[in-house]
Amino acid sequence: MSTQAGLSFEQAPPFSLPLLFFLTAPLFLLAAALLIMVAPESLASRWTAQALALTHALTLGFLAMAMLGALMQMLPVVAGSRLPAPGLTGGVSHVSLVLGTLALMTGFLTAAPVAFGIGTVLLGGGLAVFLFAAAISLVRATGSATVRGMRLALLSLGFTLALGVALALMHAGAWTPPARVALLAAHLVFGLLGWVLLLVIGVGFQVVPMFLITPPYPPLLSRWLTPVLFGLLLIRAAASTLLPFAITVVDAGLAAGILLFAVTTLRLHARRRRKLPDVTLGFWRMGMVSLIVSVGVWVAAQGWPAIAASPRYPVLLAVLFVGGFGVSVVNGMLYKIVPFLAWFHLQAQLQARAGSIPTMKNMIAERWTRWQFRFHLAAVGLLVGSLFWPPLTGAGGLMLALSALQLGLNLLSAVRRFSRHGGRLR
Ligand code: HEM
Repeated sequence: MSTQAGLSFEQAPPFSLPLLFFLTAPLFLLAAALLIMVAPESLASRWTAQALALTHALTLGFLAMAMLGALMQMLPVVAGSRLPAPGLTGGVSHVSLVLGTLALMTGFLTAAPVAFGIGTVLLGGGLAVFLFAAAISLVRATGSATVRGMRLALLSLGFTLALGVALALMHAGAWTPPARVALLAAHLVFGLLGWVLLLVIGVGFQVVPMFLITPPYPPLLSRWLTPVLFGLLLIRAAASTLLPFAITVVDAGLAAGILLFAVTTLRLHARRRRKLPDVTLGFWRMGMVSLIVSVGVWVAAQGWPAIAASPRYPVLLAVLFVGGFGVSVVNGMLYKIVPFLAWFHLQAQLQARAGSIPTMKNMIAERWTRWQFRFHLAAVGLLVGSLFWPPLTGAGGLMLALSALQLGLNLLSAVRRFSRHGGRLR
């Protein structure tokens, strides 16, 4: 397995480093759930302070947290080039991502300029350190579809960060950006469709065939999809200078690219070589169906202006894209990455023979991963339902809280099993 994954023990960062990110992520998912439970207005409109706090608990606290941890681990594996000074880079970016996200959320919830100031400094500094280190590693890397996806996703994270810092400085009272609406639109597009989507696509090209035992993606798709989508995002970000018709054409191109990826992935899943039950597959399928439904909702809003004008429309897109797609795929991948790393480090540290340590599959009890999938599915279903019947909001928040707690416990159970078999985290 270690040769198949191309991972050498010397190159891999210590298990404790990515684990720190992976174990923190469920706490932010829990924070998001509690926010929904105590402040149901988080889902009433995209413009409430609570909605912005919720968005960043999920996008920075959960998604970016897990994605940075995974990148730290994957760069040496897929790109053949590890992060420079991994301990320092990982430590600084973890602390600043945790504290910076909390400060930004506090800023949204209290409107205190000082909280925005602290959030800006921490997130700006911490993520810049990570981006700088990842850029050094990726410059050295040998090109592949996944490396290309990672490069474009990290470039998008850089744009998202710069635009986010500009917007947060505005809330801190430091300046008034000239074109706030355009800045916000570009921040949103690069954050969700650049950073989150391009990374999932780029990494998916590698991990879907490897972990879910499917045939590979068609070479033409893996060669062109991420650069074409990124090109469209760049045009979209400059959209204020385009004619409305040109914007619709660019958006239709983005929607078509997203559909192509989601449908191809579902078809590969259906052609799996070993049809064993696998909870990660459930999370990926849910993610792809949510992507397809998001595109369907967007298309419907183009045809019926009443949908586009409804305050529920952007929130529905956000719940489907962030909760249904992003959180599902990342959550599912954690169930492959954490058991694999536990198995890999045990095997390498103990020079263990097969049979003397738990297999990857036995690191987390499958029954509990299935329960967590059910909680997550119910949470997204109830939250979508709550947009049409608000009394469901509390139940949706509760399911999300159960899902977050169960995810945290499941990941901890892999760490406990690792330690029980004599594994050392550092
Ligand atoms: C990296 C992942 C990020 C993603 C995916 C993301 C996503 C979003 C989204 C979707 C919105 C808009 C909500 C809406 O219009 O309904 C938003 C707004 C905002 N984001 Fe982010 N964000 C990210 C990072 C950041 C960072 C690092 C900062 C600050 C340093 C930041 C600061 C802001 C601010 C201040 C707003 C509100 C702007 C306004 O009031 O006009 N974001 N973000």
